[in-house]
Amino acid sequence: MCGIVGYVGPQSALDVVVAGLKRLEYRGYDSAGVAVLADGGLAAAKKAGKLVNLEKELVDRPLPAGTTGLGHTRWATHGAPTDVNAHPHLDNAGRVAVVHNGIIENFALLRAELAERGHVLASDTDTEVVAHLLAEEFAVTADLAEAMRLVCRRLDGAFTLVAVHADEPDVVVGARRNSPLVVGVGEGEAFLASDVAAFIAHTRSAIELGQDQVVELRRDGVTVTGFDGRPADVRSYHVDWDASAAEKGGYDYFMLKEIAEQPKAVADTLLGRIDASGSLRLDELRISAAELREVDKIVVVACGTAFHAGMIAKYAIEHWTRIPCEVELASEFRYRDPILDPRTLVIAISQSGETMDTLMALRHAREQGSKVLAICNTNGSTIPRESDAVLYTHAGPEVAVASTKAFLTQLVACYLVALYLGQVRGTKWGDEIHVVIRDLSQISRAVERVLGTMEPVRKLARSLADKNTVLFLGRHVGYPVALEGALKLKELAYMHAEGFAAGELKHGPIALIEEDLPVVVVAPSPRARSVLHDKIVSNIQEIRARGARTIVIAEEGDEAVAPYADHLIRIPATPTLLQPLVATVPLQVFACELATARGNEVDQPRNLAKSVTVE
Ligand code: F6R
Repeated sequence: MCGIVGYVGPQSALDVVVAGLKRLEYRGYDSAGVAVLADGGLAAAKKAGKLVNLEKELVDRPLPAGTTGLGHTRWATHGAPTDVNAHPHLDNAGRVAVVHNGIIENFALLRAELAERGHVLASDTDTEVVAHLLAEEFAVTADLAEAMRLVCRRLDGAFTLVAVHADEPDVVVGARRNSPLVVGVGEGEAFLASDVAAFIAHTRSAIELGQDQVVELRRDGVTVTGFDGRPADVRSYHVDWDASAAEKGGYDYFMLKEIAEQPKAVADTLLGRIDASGSLRLDELRISAAELREVDKIVVVACGTAFHAGMIAKYAIEHWTRIPCEVELASEFRYRDPILDPRTLVIAISQSGETMDTLMALRHAREQGSKVLAICNTNGSTIPRESDAVLYTHAGPEVAVASTKAFLTQLVACYLVALYLGQVRGTKWGDEIHVVIRDLSQISRAVERVLGTMEPVRKLARSLADKNTVLFLGRHVGYPVALEGALKLKELAYMHAEGFAAGELKHGPIALIEEDLPVVVVAPSPRARSVLHDKIVSNIQEIRARGARTIVIAEEGDEAVAPYADHLIRIPATPTLLQPLVATVPLQVFACELATARGNEVDQPRNLAKSVTVE
């Protein structure tokens, strides 16, 4: 939700900031704006719509050249996505510019106070109050970092703020509470951004900002303090991917590239976690084996696609560890007073590591004394920082708003956690674990094979471009896969899509079936429990008898489903619990192709943002 960039150094601030915003546009694309300090003053430009509108504006009305600046790409919360509500926001004298990600909950009160003191506010945003408050504090302190600390102490809510002041031309100041902000440290230059992708072309040296911290950037260094002014401890790290990883690399869309990267992402997530003897090594977990042996309940919290990964994880966790496992939507979790205690292990799954609902759920769990293990793709993000332990997925940067490779790696990480629990608690024999690990190691090649057979899926998707509804059915782990297929179609193709447990069909949803309605069915392996497979064959017959057009995803060699499938999508045979790793891939390709055929923006679907940092 909203992307922020700040820069100070020898380069053109505008060039650095606009290039950074391009890499952050996935975070929001309602409007964009920039400000630079130049010639003793401050110049700003902002425009509703995508970044390209701002770029046109900068060609028509160029800003003066400067080497200190900031920029913003917005996902609107307060105020419609108009030019005037776009960030940056300035004070009345036009000396301070500020950009913001998050929500300032007490803005109405602050706004009323400012109005009483004669300030004129132009926008409907919560952000503008900060520019005016900073101007007031700077008039007293003549120190932007100190002004920021004083202002932050008066704000409620979640916020990342970045500001510049024309009277401190070589300084950029940032502040962080709950929303993400990272610092990039280069040679004689420094960067601030919501995500390292914004500055990775310039430096791979990064600093994590902690909760309630203010950072002052100058060309020759970075100073971090708490909101109280005390020096803060910070963690520096090296970003382990380079600029090319955040480029499209010849693909039309990031999503296509990210789908294609899945075999590598899966392999990378296993890398280094299996020792020479075939046992699991998860030394990075900071929860001891003794503590894991005490766990008597597991609760998975996550949102959206990550929630579907959690639903699949439940099957593996309960089967391999015999520990009861609940899966909860993070946005619902803390409101229903969940029963948690120190023996509950909470697993928080998040690609971005910044999803506010998930963050709030994990904070609630820790307050109740439970241990939290994060499964996360983003080094240094808030969710792993605030958890007791973390297992990173190594998917590399995921830029397309619709999650693909992160999902597969979340599954791999969940399987590793489940097996590890089985290993330390002795609920699985060593040789059983070796067999699953061997199977997992072969999945990367299976995904590669699926990707090589997707042309008929693309053709089928194009032929359905004028449909209004697609249903998805599955049983067992195929049920969350069906939910994930439906979610991908909704968000990308803007079609009505719903996933159901196939057995539930007869309890209501079967009334939706009508002539030629496309229904995608994820068939379990016939080698699983034959009763499960037999039941899905019956379900396919039931819907076909009522006119549905059946699209069946089935394992190679599964001939029993073939007579009832209008379209058959083959996937390699895998063990039952691992099938989602291959069965999801055709559904991703299907949704991506349908979105393209319907003329939708694949990487930036309407109304969405990749990192959801508001509740
Ligand atoms: C769907 C999608 C979202 C995210 C959800 C959680 O394609 O990407 O549903 O999965 O917003 O995001 P993270 O994993 O960053 O917590």
